[in-house]
Amino acid sequence: MAIPSSDAFVFFGATGDLAYKQIFPALQALTAGGELDMPIIGVAKAGWSVEQLKERARDSIDKHGGVDEAAFAKLAERLQYIDGDYADAATYQRLKQALGESKRPLHYLAIPPSLFPTVVQGLAKSGCADQARVVIEKPFGHDLPSAQALNATLHEVFPENAIFRIDHYLGKEAVQNLQYFRFANTFLEPVWNRNYVHSVQITMAESFGVQGRGAFYDEAGALRDVVQNHLLQVIALLAMDAPIGHDPESMRAEKLRLFRAMRPLDPKQVVRGQFRGYRDEPGVAKDSQVETYAALCLHIDTWRWAGVPFYIRAGKCLPVTTTEVMVELKPPPLAVFDAVEPRQSNYFRFRLSPEVVISTGARVKQPGDQMRGEAVELIARHRPQREKSPYQRLLGDALHGDSALFTNDEAVEAAWAVIDPALGNAEPIHEYEPGSWGPAAADGVVSSGEGWHNPQPEAVQA
Ligand code: BG6
Repeated sequence: MAIPSSDAFVFFGATGDLAYKQIFPALQALTAGGELDMPIIGVAKAGWSVEQLKERARDSIDKHGGVDEAAFAKLAERLQYIDGDYADAATYQRLKQALGESKRPLHYLAIPPSLFPTVVQGLAKSGCADQARVVIEKPFGHDLPSAQALNATLHEVFPENAIFRIDHYLGKEAVQNLQYFRFANTFLEPVWNRNYVHSVQITMAESFGVQGRGAFYDEAGALRDVVQNHLLQVIALLAMDAPIGHDPESMRAEKLRLFRAMRPLDPKQVVRGQFRGYRDEPGVAKDSQVETYAALCLHIDTWRWAGVPFYIRAGKCLPVTTTEVMVELKPPPLAVFDAVEPRQSNYFRFRLSPEVVISTGARVKQPGDQMRGEAVELIARHRPQREKSPYQRLLGDALHGDSALFTNDEAVEAAWAVIDPALGNAEPIHEYEPGSWGPAAADGVVSSGEGWHNPQPEAVQA
């Protein structure tokens, strides 16, 4: 049976940062693609008029990709604005009116999580939740109990198949490619296990700090901000078994099995760092113990992965901005040619941002009489010119009721169960210099003699 599409787009937090940076540009792109031929209603409590919201939308789009005048004109024509307190029933009455003939609205909650229960109840009491879908921004809770409580709050009003939890990493072209590459190639499967894989490293490095989000970040830290969601999702796609079908349910079932096989973190295998100067950021406590860097070792207790360490590292103010995965293969059993096989020459490398790169590292013979080798990379590199932004892709999918790229209740809770033991101040904070690769203590996370693979700027193709 065909899943009906939503027929109105409502976004709470219309005057906020996320709307400015991500939602308006995505709305223009969806409008240009003909996917948003419906009322578009922004809700916030800012004392604004609809004209002010339109100006804000134009400014946002101008700064994030550029205004397409034809599409923007349509978007502006459909845009309505409701100014009101989220706790006031009158706000939802006005929303109901604005929805008019629409029967299946999509409500996007781009608001602080503490407001979710109030808005969800407001939608329910006013009838605005009937036949509706709801899109929830991350962070989805701040630990396992709060995620469970949030799921319970949502389930009071929305069935699970109407809830779309956003993790924008899942909407990235490169992350989709990772999944595609794994299951569209026969050659990978025989080596994709503990018999051939030595270790997996994933580094999410950002060369900038908290960019004015100090107050938010100081409540979160790197483990909550990017490890529990983005990086565990990437690992799930790397390590899961093949789904039995291409429907979202089969995919989710395999991912869930994988999340559940992740061993809860051992705080002793987690190193937390904080860049020097973080405590001077606006909104950050002067004695903050929050980590802007985390390095850890994760174990996956399945027949495929038992004994293979998954090393994860994420940090702000590191030397480069990139996310990269290295799957290092075991060396050949005997070194027939070179006396010493250099490490890290047999591997798969997935660059997830800013470029999309998939490569495999190998050794080939150098020209000459000697049987000496050198490391080479066989590279597939994509630089799509008109790639969809993750938000365009994910909001479009949610409007069509396609849940494949969204996280469900069980997976989000399973991911928190992995991270929970390492939250808080169980382990001390190590200070590191901005522009460095983080605290020296992180070297102790990887097995002795191994070291971290530091992603380099990608060579530009001629
Ligand atoms: C967000 C985090 O979810 O992801 C940010 O809150 C982080 O701290 C961002 O910078 C990274 O996403 P992207 O798509 O810019 O790599």
